[in-house]
Amino acid sequence: MRGDFPHFFMRLDKFLSNYGIGSRSEVKNLLKKGLVKVNDIIIKNPSYKINPNKDIVSFNDKPIKFQENYYFMLNKPSGYITAKEDGYYPTVMEFFHNEPFFGKLFPVGRLDLDTEGLLIITSDGIFAHRIAHPKWEIEKEYFAKVKGNINNISSKNLANFEKKGIYLEEDKYQTKPFKIKILEAKENESEILITVKEGKYHIVKKIMKQLGYPVKYLKRIRIGSLKLDENLKPGQYRHLTDDEIKNLKKDVKLI
Ligand code: URA
Repeated sequence: MRGDFPHFFMRLDKFLSNYGIGSRSEVKNLLKKGLVKVNDIIIKNPSYKINPNKDIVSFNDKPIKFQENYYFMLNKPSGYITAKEDGYYPTVMEFFHNEPFFGKLFPVGRLDLDTEGLLIITSDGIFAHRIAHPKWEIEKEYFAKVKGNINNISSKNLANFEKKGIYLEEDKYQTKPFKIKILEAKENESEILITVKEGKYHIVKKIMKQLGYPVKYLKRIRIGSLKLDENLKPGQYRHLTDDEIKNLKKDVKLI
Protein backbone atom coordinates (compact mmCIF):
# COMPACT_ATOMS: atom_id res chain seq x y z
CA MET A 1 0.00 0.00 0.00
CA ARG A 2 1.29 3.49 -0.73
CA GLY A 3 0.41 6.54 1.31
CA ASP A 4 -1.61 9.47 0.01
CA PHE A 5 0.69 12.37 -0.49
CA PRO A 6 -0.58 15.92 -0.54
CA HIS A 7 1.77 16.97 -3.35
CA PHE A 8 2.25 15.06 -6.52
CA PHE A 9 5.98 15.69 -6.68
CA MET A 10 8.30 15.72 -3.74
CA ARG A 11 12.01 16.28 -3.19
CA LEU A 12 13.84 12.99 -2.70
CA ASP A 13 15.59 14.12 0.52
CA LYS A 14 12.25 15.17 2.01
CA PHE A 15 10.64 11.87 1.08
CA LEU A 16 13.50 9.92 2.68
CA SER A 17 13.54 11.93 5.90
CA ASN A 18 9.73 11.78 6.16
CA TYR A 19 10.10 8.02 6.19
CA GLY A 20 12.48 8.16 9.14
CA ILE A 21 15.61 7.30 7.18
CA GLY A 22 17.47 10.17 8.77
CA SER A 23 17.57 13.94 9.10
CA ARG A 24 17.80 15.98 5.90
CA SER A 25 21.60 16.26 6.32
CA GLU A 26 22.02 12.52 7.10
CA VAL A 27 19.94 11.74 4.05
CA LYS A 28 22.22 13.93 1.90
CA ASN A 29 25.19 11.81 2.99
CA LEU A 30 23.38 8.56 2.24
CA LEU A 31 22.51 9.90 -1.21
CA LYS A 32 26.14 10.89 -1.80
CA LYS A 33 27.19 7.33 -0.98
CA GLY A 34 24.92 6.04 -3.73
CA LEU A 35 22.66 4.06 -1.40
CA VAL A 36 19.40 5.37 -2.85
CA LYS A 37 17.82 4.30 -6.11
CA VAL A 38 14.74 5.61 -7.85
CA ASN A 39 13.30 3.06 -10.24
CA ASP A 40 16.58 1.11 -10.07
CA ILE A 41 18.80 4.09 -10.92
CA ILE A 42 21.17 5.54 -8.33
CA ILE A 43 20.23 9.14 -7.58
CA LYS A 44 22.61 11.37 -5.65
CA ASN A 45 20.84 14.70 -6.01
CA PRO A 46 18.81 15.58 -2.88
CA SER A 47 16.50 17.92 -4.77
CA TYR A 48 15.58 15.26 -7.37
CA LYS A 49 11.78 15.27 -7.68
CA ILE A 50 9.86 12.04 -7.33
CA ASN A 51 6.23 11.08 -7.58
CA PRO A 52 5.75 9.12 -4.34
CA ASN A 53 2.64 7.41 -5.67
CA LYS A 54 4.42 6.00 -8.70
CA ASP A 55 8.19 5.91 -8.32
CA ILE A 56 9.87 3.01 -6.52
CA VAL A 57 12.45 4.42 -4.15
CA SER A 58 14.84 1.95 -2.56
CA PHE A 59 17.45 2.30 0.17
CA ASN A 60 20.22 -0.30 0.37
CA ASP A 61 18.31 -2.14 -2.37
CA LYS A 62 15.22 -2.49 -0.15
CA PRO A 63 12.11 -0.77 -1.54
CA ILE A 64 10.59 1.84 0.75
CA LYS A 65 6.96 0.93 1.02
CA PHE A 66 4.37 2.69 3.07
CA GLN A 67 3.54 0.66 6.12
CA GLU A 68 2.08 2.09 9.27
CA ASN A 69 4.47 0.18 11.51
CA TYR A 70 7.33 -2.31 11.45
CA TYR A 71 7.78 -5.46 13.51
CA PHE A 72 10.88 -7.68 13.63
CA MET A 73 12.16 -10.54 15.75
CA LEU A 74 15.87 -10.56 16.56
CA ASN A 75 17.79 -13.47 18.01
CA LYS A 76 19.84 -11.30 20.36
CA PRO A 77 23.40 -12.45 20.92
CA SER A 78 25.17 -12.09 24.25
CA GLY A 79 27.32 -8.95 24.54
CA TYR A 80 24.78 -6.52 23.04
CA ILE A 81 22.90 -4.03 25.17
CA THR A 82 19.15 -3.52 24.71
CA ALA A 83 19.09 0.21 24.04
CA LYS A 84 18.94 2.62 21.13
CA GLU A 85 22.38 3.99 21.98
CA ASP A 86 25.16 3.26 24.41
CA GLY A 87 28.51 4.89 24.92
CA TYR A 88 30.27 1.62 25.69
CA TYR A 89 28.62 -1.58 24.47
CA PRO A 90 27.31 -2.38 21.00
CA THR A 91 23.51 -2.13 20.96
CA VAL A 92 20.86 -4.46 19.54
CA MET A 93 19.96 -1.69 17.09
CA GLU A 94 23.27 -2.15 15.25
CA PHE A 95 21.79 -5.10 13.39
CA PHE A 96 19.12 -2.84 11.88
CA HIS A 97 21.28 -0.09 10.37
CA ASN A 98 20.43 -1.19 6.85
CA GLU A 99 16.67 -1.07 7.39
CA PRO A 100 15.09 1.87 5.58
CA PHE A 101 13.15 2.86 8.70
CA PHE A 102 15.99 2.51 11.15
CA GLY A 103 15.28 5.88 12.77
CA LYS A 104 11.80 4.80 13.83
CA LEU A 105 12.74 1.44 15.35
CA PHE A 106 13.33 0.56 18.99
CA PRO A 107 13.47 -2.60 21.15
CA VAL A 108 10.45 -3.83 23.14
CA GLY A 109 11.36 -4.31 26.81
CA ARG A 110 14.89 -5.43 27.51
CA LEU A 111 17.17 -8.40 27.80
CA ASP A 112 20.36 -8.26 29.86
CA LEU A 113 23.73 -7.80 28.19
CA ASP A 114 24.50 -11.52 28.57
CA THR A 115 20.98 -12.83 27.78
CA GLU A 116 20.29 -14.25 24.33
CA GLY A 117 17.18 -14.91 22.33
CA LEU A 118 13.89 -13.38 21.31
CA LEU A 119 13.69 -9.60 21.19
CA ILE A 120 10.99 -7.71 19.31
CA ILE A 121 12.06 -4.56 17.48
CA THR A 122 9.27 -2.28 16.29
CA SER A 123 8.18 1.26 15.45
CA ASP A 124 4.80 0.78 17.17
CA GLY A 125 4.78 2.58 20.53
CA ILE A 126 1.39 1.44 21.88
CA PHE A 127 2.08 -2.17 20.97
CA ALA A 128 5.55 -2.05 22.60
CA HIS A 129 4.16 -0.50 25.76
CA ARG A 130 1.51 -3.19 26.14
CA ILE A 131 3.86 -6.11 25.47
CA ALA A 132 6.24 -4.84 28.14
CA HIS A 133 3.67 -3.67 30.74
CA PRO A 134 2.90 -6.17 33.56
CA LYS A 135 -0.80 -5.24 33.44
CA TRP A 136 -1.23 -7.31 30.28
CA GLU A 137 0.50 -10.33 31.87
CA ILE A 138 2.18 -11.42 28.66
CA GLU A 139 4.11 -14.63 29.28
CA LYS A 140 7.84 -14.53 28.66
CA GLU A 141 9.44 -17.95 28.49
CA TYR A 142 13.16 -18.56 29.00
CA PHE A 143 15.48 -21.51 28.67
CA ALA A 144 18.01 -21.38 31.52
CA LYS A 145 21.04 -23.30 32.70
CA VAL A 146 21.36 -22.96 36.46
CA LYS A 147 23.87 -24.05 39.07
CA GLY A 148 22.88 -27.00 41.27
CA ASN A 149 20.45 -29.90 41.18
CA ILE A 150 16.97 -28.44 40.61
CA ASN A 151 15.34 -31.73 41.62
CA ASN A 152 15.93 -30.56 45.19
CA ILE A 153 12.98 -28.20 44.83
CA SER A 154 9.85 -30.01 45.99
CA SER A 155 6.93 -30.36 43.63
CA LYS A 156 4.83 -28.65 46.32
CA ASN A 157 7.06 -25.57 46.04
CA LEU A 158 6.90 -25.66 42.25
CA ALA A 159 3.09 -25.72 42.46
CA ASN A 160 3.16 -22.79 44.90
CA PHE A 161 5.21 -20.64 42.53
CA GLU A 162 2.47 -21.09 39.95
CA LYS A 163 -0.15 -19.91 42.41
CA LYS A 164 1.59 -17.16 44.35
CA GLY A 165 5.06 -16.41 42.99
CA ILE A 166 7.73 -15.74 45.62
CA TYR A 167 8.87 -12.88 47.80
CA LEU A 168 12.28 -11.55 46.74
CA GLU A 169 13.99 -10.67 50.02
CA GLU A 170 16.68 -8.38 48.56
CA ASP A 171 14.16 -6.36 46.54
CA LYS A 172 11.30 -6.63 49.05
CA TYR A 173 9.13 -7.52 46.09
CA GLN A 174 6.42 -10.13 45.59
CA THR A 175 6.67 -11.61 42.09
CA LYS A 176 3.69 -12.57 39.99
CA PRO A 177 3.05 -16.32 39.69
CA PHE A 178 5.64 -18.07 37.50
CA LYS A 179 6.22 -21.58 36.20
CA ILE A 180 9.34 -23.77 36.22
CA LYS A 181 9.59 -26.86 34.04
CA ILE A 182 12.58 -29.10 34.70
CA LEU A 183 14.30 -30.35 31.55
CA GLU A 184 17.39 -31.93 33.06
CA ALA A 185 18.79 -32.09 36.58
CA LYS A 186 22.39 -33.04 37.31
CA GLU A 187 24.42 -32.70 40.47
CA ASN A 188 26.08 -29.39 39.52
CA GLU A 189 23.92 -28.02 36.76
CA SER A 190 20.29 -28.15 35.66
CA GLU A 191 18.31 -27.03 32.64
CA ILE A 192 14.88 -25.50 33.02
CA LEU A 193 12.17 -23.59 31.22
CA ILE A 194 10.90 -20.69 33.29
CA THR A 195 7.85 -18.62 32.34
CA VAL A 196 7.26 -15.24 33.98
CA LYS A 197 4.58 -12.62 33.44
CA GLU A 198 6.56 -9.48 34.16
CA GLY A 199 9.54 -7.64 32.76
CA LYS A 200 11.10 -6.47 36.01
CA TYR A 201 14.86 -5.92 35.79
CA HIS A 202 16.79 -9.22 36.17
CA ILE A 203 13.57 -11.00 37.22
CA VAL A 204 14.62 -14.53 36.23
CA LYS A 205 18.11 -14.19 37.69
CA LYS A 206 16.67 -12.80 40.93
CA ILE A 207 14.10 -15.57 41.27
CA MET A 208 16.64 -18.32 40.63
CA LYS A 209 19.25 -16.77 42.93
CA GLN A 210 16.74 -16.59 45.74
CA LEU A 211 15.81 -20.25 45.17
CA GLY A 212 19.51 -21.14 45.41
CA TYR A 213 20.09 -21.95 41.71
CA PRO A 214 21.96 -19.00 40.17
CA VAL A 215 21.56 -18.57 36.41
CA LYS A 216 24.60 -19.43 34.28
CA TYR A 217 22.98 -19.01 30.87
CA LEU A 218 19.69 -17.40 29.81
CA LYS A 219 17.85 -17.34 26.51
CA ARG A 220 14.33 -16.03 25.86
CA ILE A 221 12.38 -18.36 23.60
CA ARG A 222 8.82 -16.96 23.66
CA ILE A 223 6.84 -13.77 24.19
CA GLY A 224 3.07 -14.46 24.42
CA SER A 225 2.10 -16.29 21.23
CA LEU A 226 5.42 -15.49 19.50
CA LYS A 227 8.13 -18.17 19.50
CA LEU A 228 11.75 -17.50 18.60
CA ASP A 229 12.39 -18.74 15.07
CA GLU A 230 15.13 -21.32 15.62
CA ASN A 231 16.39 -20.74 12.07
CA LEU A 232 17.71 -17.37 13.20
CA LYS A 233 21.30 -17.54 14.37
CA PRO A 234 22.36 -15.08 17.08
CA GLY A 235 22.49 -11.64 15.46
CA GLN A 236 20.00 -12.54 12.72
CA TYR A 237 16.50 -11.09 12.45
CA ARG A 238 13.41 -11.23 10.27
CA HIS A 239 10.11 -9.43 9.79
CA LEU A 240 7.21 -10.83 11.79
CA THR A 241 4.57 -12.42 9.59
CA ASP A 242 1.09 -10.89 9.40
CA ASP A 243 -0.24 -13.79 11.50
CA GLU A 244 2.43 -13.32 14.16
CA ILE A 245 1.61 -9.60 14.41
CA LYS A 246 -2.12 -10.31 14.55
CA ASN A 247 -1.73 -12.92 17.31
CA LEU A 248 0.51 -10.67 19.41
CA LYS A 249 -1.99 -7.82 19.04
CA LYS A 250 -4.70 -10.21 20.23
CA ASP A 251 -2.49 -11.13 23.21
CA VAL A 252 -2.48 -7.48 24.31
CA LYS A 253 -6.11 -6.77 23.34
CA LEU A 254 -5.24 -4.33 20.57
CA ILE A 255 -7.59 -6.25 18.27
N1 URA B 1 15.28 -11.91 33.46
C1 URA B 1 16.60 -11.72 33.65
O1 URA B 1 17.12 -11.92 34.74
N2 URA B 1 17.34 -11.30 32.60
C2 URA B 1 16.83 -11.08 31.38
O2 URA B 1 17.56 -10.70 30.46
C3 URA B 1 15.45 -11.29 31.20
C4 URA B 1 14.70 -11.70 32.26
